[in-house]
Amino acid sequence: MPSDAFVAQLNEQIGHEYAAHQQYVAIAVHYDAETLPQLAHFFYRQALEERDHAMMMIQYLIDADERAVVPGVAAPQVDFDNVVAPVALALAQEKRVTEQINALAALARQEGDYSSEQFMQWFIKEQIEEVATMSDLLRVVERSQDHEMDIEDYLAREHLGEEGEDPTAPHPAGAAG
Ligand SMILES: [Fe+2]
Ligand SMILES: [Fe+2]
Repeated sequence: MPSDAFVAQLNEQIGHEYAAHQQYVAIAVHYDAETLPQLAHFFYRQALEERDHAMMMIQYLIDADERAVVPGVAAPQVDFDNVVAPVALALAQEKRVTEQINALAALARQEGDYSSEQFMQWFIKEQIEEVATMSDLLRVVERSQDHEMDIEDYLAREHLGEEGEDPTAPHPAGAAG
């Protein structure tokens, strides 16, 4: 049984994941409008991953017979001054989420809630990847900010952040299989 404190904090995290989803959609739409399709594609895909994270947490609570609350979220930032700003915002967001995920794992351990501690392990690994991917992208956009087509070429060539199927990933609520 997850502890009450963990259930409350995981429900908060579902809100953070949906907020991340909305922010990444906003960034993708911004790049799409600027006719930077590779950057747009990257963030549309990241947005879907964030939605999956929220739905994995919802599935965990449903399976544990706990109440999962679908939250409203604050409006994302939609205006950006240059090509670098959205990626810098995204990296800051991923670092913040990493702290939140680590805090959830620490809380589960502190509460003696070992199933929830184990559930958080996948997210800890995922955050290491997401921070690394976003750090790589920030370096690329900073280096090539005056040559946006170089950024687009890089993304088309390197498939940054594209992961194959991960059989260890928790099941997102509502997903097939
Ligand atoms: Fe996430
Ligand atoms: Fe993320």
